[in-house]
Amino acid sequence: MTSPSASAPARAATKRTVLMCRPEHFTVSYRINPWMHPEDPTDTSLAVRQWETLHAKYVELGFEIHLIDPIPGLPDMVYAANGGYVLDGIAYGAKFEYPERQPEGPAYMDWFRANGFDVREPVATNEGEGDMLLVGDTIYAGTGFRTDPASHDELRAIYQREVVTLKLIDPSFYHLDTAFAVLDSKGGPDSVAFLPKAFDARSLDILDERFPDAIHVNDEDAKVLGLNSFSDGRNVVIASRATDFERQLTERGYIAHGVDLSELLLGGGGVKCCTLELRS
Ligand code: ARG
Repeated sequence: MTSPSASAPARAATKRTVLMCRPEHFTVSYRINPWMHPEDPTDTSLAVRQWETLHAKYVELGFEIHLIDPIPGLPDMVYAANGGYVLDGIAYGAKFEYPERQPEGPAYMDWFRANGFDVREPVATNEGEGDMLLVGDTIYAGTGFRTDPASHDELRAIYQREVVTLKLIDPSFYHLDTAFAVLDSKGGPDSVAFLPKAFDARSLDILDERFPDAIHVNDEDAKVLGLNSFSDGRNVVIASRATDFERQLTERGYIAHGVDLSELLLGGGGVKCCTLELRS
């Protein structure tokens, strides 16, 4: 953990409510992104221990944490961010691109229903908060690899918010949350961090115009999924190996908390992937 630099602006934390899924059945048995190598061994108990450190960090930060039961045969279910999108107490369900993950959509919708959310069944393919991130009153929505832009129209209709489409072009950064991090969900010119090379030219113009003071991360930090982080506005939980990102966060008044999720990186996911925010 690092303390914020004395000259940086003061940052305020807002308590977060999140949904997580213990990786009891985690492994890499298929390949749907370039990070996954089914021929290489994985260590499920190590994945669980590392995930416990993320869970413990969220407890320490005072978050309200809900858990969904992991289902055997769904090794990627730990990446809860893909399980749906929740805002205004409404849960827009996920509809996964690849058959291997498709049963996760209904499983998460069942959880949302059982926990009092107003569930909207998706028509278009979308991978939940992995591709939809709220900054201020705008939803930034990714496309290019998984989420169909038709789902961006569904988002607009459901939440009555501005939805800005961002196109991803690098297969290693296939979900928006692998290339774009919300540091301060209230918004503002410096409220996000991103990896410029992950976006097409039109999307990059939008990001530069709306976030002129954003943090740009380097390739090394991007390669350990440093951007796949979760912030409460003051505390930013990141991959411990993303050291330059950590330095930039500290300079800007955030407290960076590093966690090691190396085992879950073998599936192509990190901190944010394991975290679905529940907004009432
Ligand atoms: N193996 C999973 C997949 O490819 C990883 C998902 C990562 N989740 C995320 N929100 N980026 O679908």
